[in-house]
Parts: sequence; structure tokens; C-alpha cells
Amino acid sequence: MKQISPVSRSGRFAGGPAAHVAQFTESVSFDHRLWRHDIQGSIAHATMLAKIGVLTKKELRAIVKVLDAIGREIAAGKFRWKVGLEDVHMNIEAELTRRVSAGAKLHTARSRNDQIALDMRLWLRDEIVLLLVEIADLQRTLVSLGEKNSDVLIPGYTHLQRAQPVYLAHHLLAYVEMLERDCERLWDCHSRVNVCPLGSGALAGSTLPLKRELVAKLLGFVDASGTVQLTQNSMDAVSDRDFAVEFCAAAALVAVHISRLAEDLILWTSAEFNFVKIADAYTTGSSLMPQKKNPDVAELARGKTGRVIGNLVALLTLLKGLPMTYNRDLQEDKERLFDTADTVRATTRLMAAMLTNTKVNKATCTAAASDPALLATDLADYLVRKGIPFRQAHHVVGAVVALAEKTGKPLNRLTLAELQSVDPVTGTKVFGRDALGVFNLQRAMAKRNLVGAPGTEEVAKQLARWRGQLS
Ligand code: ARG
Repeated sequence: MKQISPVSRSGRFAGGPAAHVAQFTESVSFDHRLWRHDIQGSIAHATMLAKIGVLTKKELRAIVKVLDAIGREIAAGKFRWKVGLEDVHMNIEAELTRRVSAGAKLHTARSRNDQIALDMRLWLRDEIVLLLVEIADLQRTLVSLGEKNSDVLIPGYTHLQRAQPVYLAHHLLAYVEMLERDCERLWDCHSRVNVCPLGSGALAGSTLPLKRELVAKLLGFVDASGTVQLTQNSMDAVSDRDFAVEFCAAAALVAVHISRLAEDLILWTSAEFNFVKIADAYTTGSSLMPQKKNPDVAELARGKTGRVIGNLVALLTLLKGLPMTYNRDLQEDKERLFDTADTVRATTRLMAAMLTNTKVNKATCTAAASDPALLATDLADYLVRKGIPFRQAHHVVGAVVALAEKTGKPLNRLTLAELQSVDPVTGTKVFGRDALGVFNLQRAMAKRNLVGAPGTEEVAKQLARWRGQLS
């Protein structure tokens, strides 16, 4: 019998593709990284084929043995990938069949269309878990930095203008909250990745009595309650890349969050802020200016976000005009998906490492947070407690600020008489002796104890909550 080669060109073709066509259409140069999951899927499929009598037990054993051997060779870097065999699937199957003739039965009732959908889902399932581990690590790093500097106050900003004092820990915990939402989104995405498409064939399933549940169980496609997860429409199953889009969207938001954190750090390391100092190992120098120490890791974290957003847009664009079902365009999904997974995971890891090697400059933070103007709202609240309508109190404190500017004094240095000179109700003395006590920063922070507020007790509570939740 003529050697059967598992090349996609069946008997209908007179010859192979033109060399530049092979170059143009190949995907093995990038999809080879799916090899582990491709082998895992093939072993599950073969196991099922043996159950329904397509493979003998002996053939199954031989196939599994050779697939395992091929896997070891790939892991050791000893496998020769051939561009002429197009993709990871064909490369592995061709080598399998070269070594054991029963390999030619492996593709029974399977198409590369459901095979690639399977490989990507298996791969992405693992990738999501790895990213979640990195994100939790970054969250713990933020909590640790907050704990180590739990008494450090900084100005909170709106419009990048000093607004009101907050604990540095409160600012850092804002990112922990964002990252937690990211984790929830990634888990939610995981539940839709975790559905088995195998058995969908090219687009229309198979006439053979496949046991889809068995394959799905072997590959761990079960939900938290142990229910097997199977795709329910063969056409959807081979053309669906929503799971990849969802991951790229959730990962893009992770990147955006990290990018904002990076921007804060870039500002904070500048001489103008000087709130933090990043260790030398996590900064770079200038080739021209000897004094420079640049926050390049943070800048690249910010910069790479553009790529990650681009990947999401590329995937959506790829899908928008596709007729049912599988179209070769879909091959273009992988590099975008891989790039997002690699970039976001590395960025998350580097950000955590950099923060572990960042020191807070307490003196400059404290000096900045001690600006009494940050407590102007507290002075308005003081008037509110005396029964003055807030709008009026706001106006009066505005006048107090103007007076302080005019006299060249900080707010807390105005005398009681000066405060009373702008009393809201002429002839009354709404400002009392206690008015200047408003500017005691420690006392002001003790008062901010609403849930979610940056008060002394509340921030300690939040730090403890996160410490417990993340351990
Ligand atoms: N390399 C292809 C991809 O990534 C695998 C599926 C190819 N299927 C086909 N019928 N040509 O999408």
C-alpha cells in the first residue's frame, strides 16, 4: 500500500503548493507552541476512538506511546518542525504516522477545524490560570507596600491637582480593587473557554458514534459542579473565537489598569513629586545624560498596553466579516492571542517585581500631604456642623482661602479674628476657637471612617481584609 501521508492535500491535488504559497499559509512557525495541548487532545481523541472500536487497544497503546515520545522530543528541542506540513497538527500527526501506521486512523471524525478550536481552548485555560497567579502576586505586593508604609499620607489628586489627603495605602488599594475585578472577569471568561468543541468535525460533526462526553471528561471540560461542558452547535464550535476575544478584552483591561499604576509611579519618581524611589536594578540610565535614572519598566508597562489594545481590535476586526463557519482568516487569531497573553503576563510580573523594589520617601509624602489647603473641605464641613448650608459654607471657605493667599499665610496660620472677618452671617461668630483644630491632619484622618473612605481605621481595616483575602 502507498504510504498515507496526513497532508491536507488529498488525492484530488496533482502536487504540493507553490513554495511561496506554503510560506504564506503556514502557521507552524507560531502555532508550534500549542504542541503540548495538541498531543493532550490527540490522546483523548484516540482513547475515545478505541472505546468505539475504531482503534484496537494495541493501536491505541502504540499511538499514545509515540505521541508521548514526540512530546518529550519537542520539549527537549529535538523535534524538527517542517513548514511544508503547515501547522502544529500536521507536523505531529505526520511524525506519528511515520513511526506507527495506526497513526493514520487518528484523524477519524476530526478536522483541524475542531482540533485548533480545542487546542486553543486547552492552551488558554492554562494561560488564564497562570495570569491569575501573577495578578494575585501583584495585588499582594501592593498590599505589602501599603502595610509597610501604613502611616504615610499623600495628597489625593483630581485633575492632577492636590485635592484631599489620603493614606498612600488607600491609593495603592485602589489598584488592588481594580485587579480584583480583572480576576473576576478572567474567571468568568475561563468558564466559557472551558467548553469542549471536539466532535464538531469540519463544521457538521460526524456520522460515526463518537463519545463526546468521554473526550470532554478526559480533558477536564467540566464546570465547578462536575457537569461536562460540550459545545452545542458544530457550526458555532468551529467558527467561534468569542472566548479569545473575551480573554483579549479582559487582558486589555488588566493592561490598562497596570498602565495607570505605571503612570502614577512615573509621576511619583519625578523630582517634582519625589514620593518613591525605584531600586537601580529596575531603572535604566541615559546614554547621554549621566545623572539620569529612568523608570523604563513602568514606561514600557504603559507603552505595551497599546499593543494589547491593538490585539483586541485586530481580533474583532478579523471576525466581523466572516461568513459561517471556519475560514482560514481565523489562523490570524493566534499571534494576537499569544502576544496578549505573553505581554500582559510579563508586564504583571515585572510590575510586581519593581514595586517590591520600590521605597517610599516618607518625608516628601508627609510634606506634600501637610499642605493645609487639602483640608479646606474639612473647614466647610465644620461650618455645616454649625448649621450653615453647604453651598454657603463652600463660598465662605473660598473667601478664607483668598484671604490666606492675600496675606501670604497658609490656611492654618490665619487667626481666629481673620477667620471671623469672613463669617457667613454678619455679626455672628460662627467660626469658634475650635475652627483651627480642623487643620490637625491626624485628627482629620481619624474622622474619615465611612466604608471605602481613606480614614485611619478604615484603611487599616481594608489592608487587613485584603491581607486575609489574598493569603
Ligand atoms: N492552522 C489553522 C488555523 O490556525 C488550523 C486549521 C486549518 N483548517 C483548515 N481547514 N485549513 O486556523
